[in-house]
Amino acid sequence: TASALKDIISHAKEYGFVFPSSEIYDGLQAVYDYGQNGVELKNNLKNVWYKAMTMLNDNVVGLDAAIFMHPLTWKASGHVDSFNDPMIDNKDSKKRYRADTLLEERAAALEDEGKATEAKALMQAMAKGLDAGDLEAVRQLIIDQNIKCPVSGTANWTEVRQFNLMFSTQVGAVSEDASLIYLRPETAQGIFVNFLNVQKTGRMKVPFGIAQIGKAFRNEIVARNFIFRMREFEQMEMQFFVRPGTEMEWYNTWKETRMKFHQAIGLPADSLKFHDHDKLAHYANAAVDIEYKFPFGFKEMEGIHSRTDFDLKAHQELSKKKQQYFDPEINQNYIPYVVETSVGADRLFLAILCNAYTEETTGEGETLKQRVYLNIHPALAPTKVAVLPLVKKDGLAEKAQEITNQLKFAFNTTYDDGGAIGKRYTRQDLIGTPYCVVVDYQTMEDQTVTVRDRNTMTQERISIADLKEKLGYAVSM
Ligand code: GAP
Repeated sequence: TASALKDIISHAKEYGFVFPSSEIYDGLQAVYDYGQNGVELKNNLKNVWYKAMTMLNDNVVGLDAAIFMHPLTWKASGHVDSFNDPMIDNKDSKKRYRADTLLEERAAALEDEGKATEAKALMQAMAKGLDAGDLEAVRQLIIDQNIKCPVSGTANWTEVRQFNLMFSTQVGAVSEDASLIYLRPETAQGIFVNFLNVQKTGRMKVPFGIAQIGKAFRNEIVARNFIFRMREFEQMEMQFFVRPGTEMEWYNTWKETRMKFHQAIGLPADSLKFHDHDKLAHYANAAVDIEYKFPFGFKEMEGIHSRTDFDLKAHQELSKKKQQYFDPEINQNYIPYVVETSVGADRLFLAILCNAYTEETTGEGETLKQRVYLNIHPALAPTKVAVLPLVKKDGLAEKAQEITNQLKFAFNTTYDDGGAIGKRYTRQDLIGTPYCVVVDYQTMEDQTVTVRDRNTMTQERISIADLKEKLGYAVSM
């Protein structure tokens, strides 16, 4: 529900996960900053993805390409000509909307009213109009449906225009056309243009993959739902180069592999589903999304696309450089086909946060207790262990400091002696710390501590000598 997302947004802000960008100036729409806990969680997510790609597959290697690329890259990829959203302005409120979003929302409302056939017909008419580039037909649908602007409440619409989502800027001092460059709208093209560099220098044999994490930029018209749709975001993409004709096999393999990944990092199977694309992009011969059940419904988190040889072929044409691979097994030259997996780091972060946010009530009457905690997989949690002296006196604080110093080289460990022990547990629960180590008077006698589990709140007494190994095991993947 919407209120659940609201709770998550305020929790993320209050506990140092996500802040609105340049907040002191009232923020910048659809741009966010990751705070002290957010950056840890996001880095852990990126590391787990990168390792799953490169360490678990001996034929996938990494890359870190630049954000700026030669302008022809985006001509070849099709982004200059067709990376557009149809938009419409309301003449009274001067607010801009995506025409397709207005119609999609109308179709969803019709469906809620039990008019499924009408909803379907509307979506089909919209797809037909957009496919044919008939923007007047799309506008007519908005008028026929009497869709009103949420702000002005009027149906006073302008014409529909195509709006390119790429941000552009200039290199050098002169603002000539030739110096116009774009901020990349996807990281994938950095991989395509380096395909031969990596293949040759790494002596890679098809099938092989290149994995990359990096920023991407899109001038989204409708930016909504917190970090779900941002103007500056991070993608984790892997292009897998295969022999033509084998792409469907690899497409299915990666589809299953990626679904397992999301489950392995703690997203429940029933909150994930595949959604096949009804309509394929011009470059794809198969495409599926992995959707997560966000508080605002099942929505795309990752895309898996069989992109054929569209990109490499286009780059070969524009660059006049052969993008071929000689396959020694079949003694043939060809442009490889590509299966791509592409997941937004920020969307995955949001899914993890939504899934982790838990409001719990235990006990009853006098013992009734309510708490909020983040049920994050220990390997992803920003802080793994908090070491807490029961009291500050009698050497307990020093002992706790000593344990902190032993553990902090192995994993993210924090020390906290501020306030009652219950308050300190709560503080760690709220940021998802899986374990609290408590130093008490018994510690001073027998060198043992208690370890409290975030989810069950149960405590176990273990020897200090065993802490590093046991906790290290518990917080790894
Ligand atoms: N190279 C293929 C590609 O870019 P996409 O479906 O446009 O495909 C892939 O994007 C993923 O990137 C999405 O599934 C989503 O997780 C993430 N993504 C796309 N646009 C985004 C945005 N504006 N904000 C946050 N994440 C976004």
